[in-house]
Amino acid sequence: MSDWPARLILFGGTGDLAARSLYPALAALAEDGRLPDPFHVLASGSREQTDEEFRERVQESLDEHADDAGDDARRRVLDAVRYHQADISSADDIAALVESLPGEGPLLAYLALPPSMFADAIRGLHDAGLPDGSRLVIEKPFGVDLESARDLNALIHERFDESQVFRVDHFLAKQTVHNVLGLRFANRLFEPVWSNQHIERVEITFDETLALEGRAGYYDGTGALVDMLQNHLLQLLCLVAMDPPSSLEGDDLRDRKVSVLRSVRAVPEESVRARYEGYADEEGVDPALGTETFASITLRIDSWRWAGVPFVLRSGKALGEDRREIAVHFKPVPHLAFGERTPPDPNVVRLQLGPDRLSVGLSMNGDGELFDVSPIELDTDLREPDLPAYANVLVHAFEGNPTFSIRDDEAEEAWRVVEPIITAWRADEIPMLEYEVGSAGPARR
Ligand code: BG6
Repeated sequence: MSDWPARLILFGGTGDLAARSLYPALAALAEDGRLPDPFHVLASGSREQTDEEFRERVQESLDEHADDAGDDARRRVLDAVRYHQADISSADDIAALVESLPGEGPLLAYLALPPSMFADAIRGLHDAGLPDGSRLVIEKPFGVDLESARDLNALIHERFDESQVFRVDHFLAKQTVHNVLGLRFANRLFEPVWSNQHIERVEITFDETLALEGRAGYYDGTGALVDMLQNHLLQLLCLVAMDPPSSLEGDDLRDRKVSVLRSVRAVPEESVRARYEGYADEEGVDPALGTETFASITLRIDSWRWAGVPFVLRSGKALGEDRREIAVHFKPVPHLAFGERTPPDPNVVRLQLGPDRLSVGLSMNGDGELFDVSPIELDTDLREPDLPAYANVLVHAFEGNPTFSIRDDEAEEAWRVVEPIITAWRADEIPMLEYEVGSAGPARR
């Protein structure tokens, strides 16, 4: 920890992500005794306000989202933050921002910005001349499509070294990711049956009861496909489908993930897009953008291991229940010794995200008739994570540990995967369905 950069510039410091996740993550690190001392955060935003006004907002966000952190930890964050108004499209403003950051030595520049603003920020930071050892942390979505992701990568590579860049996907910093890796690669039980020989389909679901929550500025025009599936859920797919890595160090894990992504093929005809009734009337929404709040896509992996197994990724907002899980459905047994009494689809391995839980479905003789079998579930709650995901993101970036950041080629491959779906949706080849708020989603899902 001692060689962590002790300085952070937070672009988008007045935004929703900063309020909901980044200040609370800093408080969690302070609570855990991991924040360097002294530590400086310079938050930038476009509006004019004093440090005091800004700190009041940070205080509110800590009160609302960092209730696990004690008073001292929150105080440390409040003491560390300052506000600096800046126009990110102006290189001079960015230079002034870098100049105003207190302290010395390397810094972390965290771009919690919409993708359209990344290029200006990257150029400005380069021109400002960052101290040696500084790093760039770039939020998702990395671009708006394949072409823009390629352009961003080219821009970054002209000015920075790939090793200085952290493309964030906070799902990779969730405990669940480690649970997938642990389940698959620390046990002998599953890997021999982890293929199309035994697995029928995989469903990766992230249904949220949350609706827009005042995030129209970011969400409208982005939509469920780009907000959730193109990055978070595709990352989970990679972890479920990849070949065993030799270690979790350096590029081992990322090489394996990229190799999965390269063989993923989308089937646009099997995609579903929908929005909840009333979405168009939400504040700040432009109905002409045709943003979906629910997306379900079916992907195929063209490899020996996965040929023929559909991977269904789905996520939606304003649904009836929070369902967040990876469900691996095994094929039925090859011969029904118990005849018609054998329950259908019994063997499902489920990893639930937050609260983390593992369950394995089996058919077993239980109570009742001697020769009857019925479905049972073996399940267990998994350990609560020590730190929230965004605190882990910051730890990885501070430490310069690239394992759980998205590599340049990975970011592009992920866009390549969803590109045919984006194209089909833009051409209206797939109808936009509607669903009721609080329902299970559109009728076809
Ligand atoms: C974010 C999305 O990346 O992930 C949100 O932009 C979504 O729309 C969120 O709600 C879900 O992740 P978490 O960690 O907040 O459950």
